[in-house]
Amino acid sequence: MTSTDQPLKTSGAAPVVLGGEPRAPIAAEQWPRPAGREMELLGQVVRSGNWGFDGPLEAEFEAAFAAYQDARYGLCVANGTVALQLALEALDVGAGDEVIVPALTWQATAAAALDINAVPVLADVEPGTYCLDPVQVERLITPRTRAIIPVHLYSSLADMDRICQIGARHSIPVIEDCAHAHGSRWRDRGTGSWGALGCFSFQKFKTLTAGEGGFVSTSDPALRERVYSLRNCGRRRHGSADADWRPIQSGNYRMTEFQAAVLLAQFDAFDGQASQRDLNVGRIEAGLAELPGVAPMDHPAGRTRISPYEFVFKFVAGEWDGLSAGGFRRALEAELGVEVDRVNEPLNAAPLYLPQTKRRYRITSAYWDAINPKRFDVPVATQAYAEGVSLPHKILLDDDAVPVVLDAITRLHEHRQALASWENAA
Ligand SMILES: Cc1ncc(COP(=O)(O)O)c(C=O)c1O
Repeated sequence: MTSTDQPLKTSGAAPVVLGGEPRAPIAAEQWPRPAGREMELLGQVVRSGNWGFDGPLEAEFEAAFAAYQDARYGLCVANGTVALQLALEALDVGAGDEVIVPALTWQATAAAALDINAVPVLADVEPGTYCLDPVQVERLITPRTRAIIPVHLYSSLADMDRICQIGARHSIPVIEDCAHAHGSRWRDRGTGSWGALGCFSFQKFKTLTAGEGGFVSTSDPALRERVYSLRNCGRRRHGSADADWRPIQSGNYRMTEFQAAVLLAQFDAFDGQASQRDLNVGRIEAGLAELPGVAPMDHPAGRTRISPYEFVFKFVAGEWDGLSAGGFRRALEAELGVEVDRVNEPLNAAPLYLPQTKRRYRITSAYWDAINPKRFDVPVATQAYAEGVSLPHKILLDDDAVPVVLDAITRLHEHRQALASWENAA
């Protein structure tokens, strides 16, 4: 922690929820924020008449973003969920195949497997990173396992060394879910370049966004052709030189040229923002390590750059004299004036992951039973849901937010007994 990152001197002032003065709001700028060229490029698209797929701006963005993530090829698709689905289908994963996904993730990671009639197998996560635990992956592999999907979750990266080793040892392909990890790097190589394919989301909350959108990265020319065909009703890519290409049934999972225009404009500002996020994550984590009552996530040596979707740390329940994590989150939200959230609910209990509510999945009674998420026991993901505290990524673009966050937590801890009484009285 540098001297400027020390928590601001606390004056003993009361927390906001106990009647203290609110601070000046941090990260006043909203997200998404225009980078500059959006209107110019959108105007260009309107005038061009080329409003749909396979436009020049889409091609430019695909090349630029794939290279940025250290992959040879990239394909824009409708959204991040579809990116995962098409990545699985490109690998010919299908009916009854097992796909190992972390239990702690947004439901899309597992839903993509469900939608191709595969069986999502929920693996627990590592306590230090909240990402897919390689030990659990190894334990859950069966002869039916056809893919492993690590998710680079929040401000952590999955251990790509160990997960890629396991995949290689069992000849099971790895697909990276990078919906939270644009611009992040494992051992100085971009996320999305470690697995056979990488999948990104450009949904409105993400750090690179066009409101909606998705992306598949790969360095395998045959997979590139297959993802192209899958996203475009089975058509062969114009200019494809793949002698082994075969027609494949598919639908429309394309992106528009308008989205590509916005993405290109947003991308101008992206690398600078990613560096600033990485720097400020480091500063906040160093500060958190010195404070009582909270703990930063582990920082494995492989995590050489992090540009997170949300910044996550742990609430250490035993150090708050009875204040709960929920009470802490509410009090911190009042201090900072930005939303303070919890992490995703584990998929064995998530209200938006309910495979047994759709008749489409009632293929056989064995399949119906296999997709029941309640059959998985995931204590670490459950603990993460209890203790995880999540701050929006926009605060990481405000250098001044670092001491404010640390000061706010320090103040809450100083007043923990009064806060516990406040919570009990509520
Ligand atoms: C980890 C993860 N994977 C996949 C997705 C799906 O992306 P989309 O919302 O673009 O479909 C999300 C979206 O929030 C996500 O958080």
